[in-house]
Amino acid sequence: MTILDGKKVSNDIKEEIAEHVKAIISKGEKVPHLAAILVGSDGASMTYVNAKVKACERIGFKSTLIELPEYTSEEELLNKIHELNTNDDIDGFIVQLPLPKQIDEQKVLMAVDPNKDVDGFHPTNVGKMALDLPTFLPATPYGIIELLERYQIETSGKNVVVMGRSHIVGRPISILMSQKRKAGDATVTLVHSRSKNLLDITKNADIIVAAIGISEFLTGDMVKEDVVIIDVGITRVPDATKKNGYRLAGDVHFESVSKKASFITPVPGGVGPMTIAMLLKNTLLARDRHN
Ligand code: GUN
Repeated sequence: MTILDGKKVSNDIKEEIAEHVKAIISKGEKVPHLAAILVGSDGASMTYVNAKVKACERIGFKSTLIELPEYTSEEELLNKIHELNTNDDIDGFIVQLPLPKQIDEQKVLMAVDPNKDVDGFHPTNVGKMALDLPTFLPATPYGIIELLERYQIETSGKNVVVMGRSHIVGRPISILMSQKRKAGDATVTLVHSRSKNLLDITKNADIIVAAIGISEFLTGDMVKEDVVIIDVGITRVPDATKKNGYRLAGDVHFESVSKKASFITPVPGGVGPMTIAMLLKNTLLARDRHN
């Protein structure tokens, strides 16, 4: 069994990007600038956004964090987005999800200039992705593709089961892996909360991408020998033995599934760091497109 070390691979990618930044600086050009909007103070979202900002600093990007209060109105957020759309210094930006309930997520995502949409969530970019046209790929699916590619895991003709139909992970990764592309050419089945005979489907999977947000849902008895496991889930599970009172768990029951798997991502240290690396890669792409 091999651990798919997202931390290591993401560090390799960040080093590659840092080299680009050095070249940009030596030419006297402007370094990439990523902005992130965080509305409210959800603990997990704060952790993710801070990690994104810190990653920017480490590789030499400029970053701006815009923190808005929980009670921010939709109009206020849309105004802020307009400001970032028209600010030439900013190459790309993200609005961290989820948003408070008074704000319509769809409206917000549609307000982002598709050329600065480094999350790849704007309908124009989702459409381009689905048509396999050049665009910003959403960071988590992009990270999964990159991880499979760098570990040279064969996907062509394989049975891939994607668990979860979210717009951020499940839906796009199912589209990407069915395409004729790197880490693609797979036979993809997407399962969700209304799927029947789940066990028949997961037991036949060569590769499983678990992205349902239910901790330790996928157990060893649900998979076949030598399965490749990509665990996208990351949930805080109460744990009295930990100093902060919780531990992080994926959607996969690591102990039982890892006994059968040929490759498996850990949580944390698997998909999470890859997401950040690919966001940086998209920001570099946005900057290159503007120049
Ligand atoms: N919330 C969970 N994942 C993501 C992501 O990739 N981007 C943004 N903006 N919000 C998220």
